[in-house]
Amino acid sequence: MKYSTVAVSADGPRYLASTAVLLSELLKVVICLAVLARQRLRQSRSLDMTAMARDVFGAESDCLKMLVPAGLYVVQNNLQFVAVRNLDPATFQVSYQFKIITTALFSVWLLSRSLSQQKWVSLFLLTAGIALVQMPRSSGGGGTAHTRQDGNGDDDEEVARRALMQLTGLSAVALACVSSGLAGVWFEKVLKGSKGSLWVRNAQLSLFSLVPALLVGVILVDGAKVAKLGFFQGYTVWTWAVIVLQAGGGLIVSLVVKYADNIIKGFATSISIILSSVASVYLFNFSMSRNFVIGAGMVLFATHLYGSSAKPAAAAEKKPPVEPHERLSNDDADEKK
Ligand code: C5P
Repeated sequence: MKYSTVAVSADGPRYLASTAVLLSELLKVVICLAVLARQRLRQSRSLDMTAMARDVFGAESDCLKMLVPAGLYVVQNNLQFVAVRNLDPATFQVSYQFKIITTALFSVWLLSRSLSQQKWVSLFLLTAGIALVQMPRSSGGGGTAHTRQDGNGDDDEEVARRALMQLTGLSAVALACVSSGLAGVWFEKVLKGSKGSLWVRNAQLSLFSLVPALLVGVILVDGAKVAKLGFFQGYTVWTWAVIVLQAGGGLIVSLVVKYADNIIKGFATSISIILSSVASVYLFNFSMSRNFVIGAGMVLFATHLYGSSAKPAAAAEKKPPVEPHERLSNDDADEKK
């Protein structure tokens, strides 16, 4: 994402984040509708569009519940671009890990999930560990990410500009962390607590997201720029890559939330970051820093701690209540799944 924002021709315009967010939502809509159409065809051998529309927007679809995460995700996806443009990649990645904690807090609040002390410890350890993993090398040069944006910035104006960028970027990250926790847990609650398949929920989410992405993002915020230099200003192959990655990543997130939960998603993402860094050792000659090794150790230990705090025997003795909502509140049942 960072690379796509700098990989532009010398003095050409930068692409507009709002248009990229809109296109990735559009791509998700197309994918979700294609999956739903395929499911319909398999069931009834004919493509009944009214039945499909009824599944997604009908009186029984409970579609209005998706308005909240749809709005939040559009804001969050735009905030991510704001953060990436104002911070260096490492600071962005490190500070964005705070979403692990906001997600846990919203899970406790909205899903009435109770987390043992050991689980809280493991979550803080995970956040600190993954932040360490992403931290650039402390002493000069050779880190995995650039830690300075440009210039040496000795004069006051430059210092003030940097401070403002830092403040804007970190505020965007803070809001994105709150949104990530709230939207993710809201989606999980609706998905697991009511009927409506994953693909129906995903279709509702992305269709509803199109409205704010277009009206607020593209028209209200960037309308003047779009009118002046066009919708696709500054687009490169990297912009398209980001759009595809955002759409694909979003759909994978929904699968993780369905088959596991939002907290476990935090562990999965952290471990995937470590695995891809290890792969970079072989692929891109990435050398592991001490911070990386310590952080990776903390992440693995946190994962073990979180998993081992489940007490299968006790859980088996105490059968969970049958209500779907209540089943959500049972950590052990979730982990077993
Ligand atoms: O950083 P975080 O894990 O909160 O990011 C979640 C991402 O997944 C967002 O970009 C959101 O738009 C996307 N998503 C999605 N479909 C879902 C749930 C999340 O596209 N059902």
